[in-house]
Amino acid sequence: MDAVQEHVTAVVRRFDPTREKTPRYVEYEVPYVKGMKVLDAVRYIQRNLDGTLAYRWNCREGICGSCAMEVDGKPVLTCKTEVRGKMLIEPMLSFPCVKDLVADVREVREKLAKLSPWLAPRPEEDAKKEFWRIKEHELHEAEEARLCIECYICYDVCHVIRNHKELPFPGPVNIVHAVGLDRHPKDSMDRSLFMHKDIWNCNMNRCCSSSCPQGIRITENFITYAKERIVEENNIVNALIRRVRNKPGPLDSWGERK
Ligand code: SF4
Ligand code: SF4
Ligand code: FES
Repeated sequence: MDAVQEHVTAVVRRFDPTREKTPRYVEYEVPYVKGMKVLDAVRYIQRNLDGTLAYRWNCREGICGSCAMEVDGKPVLTCKTEVRGKMLIEPMLSFPCVKDLVADVREVREKLAKLSPWLAPRPEEDAKKEFWRIKEHELHEAEEARLCIECYICYDVCHVIRNHKELPFPGPVNIVHAVGLDRHPKDSMDRSLFMHKDIWNCNMNRCCSSSCPQGIRITENFITYAKERIVEENNIVNALIRRVRNKPGPLDSWGERK
């Protein structure tokens, strides 16, 4: 490891909602080491300057998604982001704060639970089939959703979430999961109405796509698909065909049959 060269300044948002009414911003000087990431600076502060600083991390390799924070107002994986001379470090601000840099992300998971986020194959068809043939393009389509590391950066940047907390919009990450299942050739559940809720408030500004550390093309490959799927589902001819074929209608956005 290179020798210490200089210092960087980290301005860290400190807040314990159980004891304090408003957040404080505290400045720390951290010795700079070449290649240092923001997470390294946060760890240094917690280990050497103030042991009460709360933050979350797991892998330090960009694969667990748990170290996401806002650096100079932009949500990033701090284990993959180089330090700057002076930087502002905050938790993801679309979420309630548990303490300091730890965001409470339960609302994303509570919304996801309403999707029934697992494959729902048709049992009688499964029993008959020895092999499942999946076309290459179907595999690629389903695989892109599997790249998600649940960092919730896309949820944090989404203006529908930020400005309209009252809406039940599932958020970009949950649309990714819903579309991933909807496109999967083995999944038999209709996911369209889960995607439906308030998706028309999304103005396709691509903030989610351009922030995703996994390079998932959320707007292009998932939000667009979801909107097309909803239009198709609401088409009166398609609804009649479903009825004639005695197929179940779609689940509503929170998992109940229409
Ligand atoms: S493109 Fe839509 S879902 Fe993505 S961040 Fe923007 S408003 Fe949210
Ligand atoms: S879609 Fe991308 S930004 Fe959103 S939670 Fe998954 S990995 Fe993170
Ligand atoms: S610590 Fe796991 S993604 Fe950063």
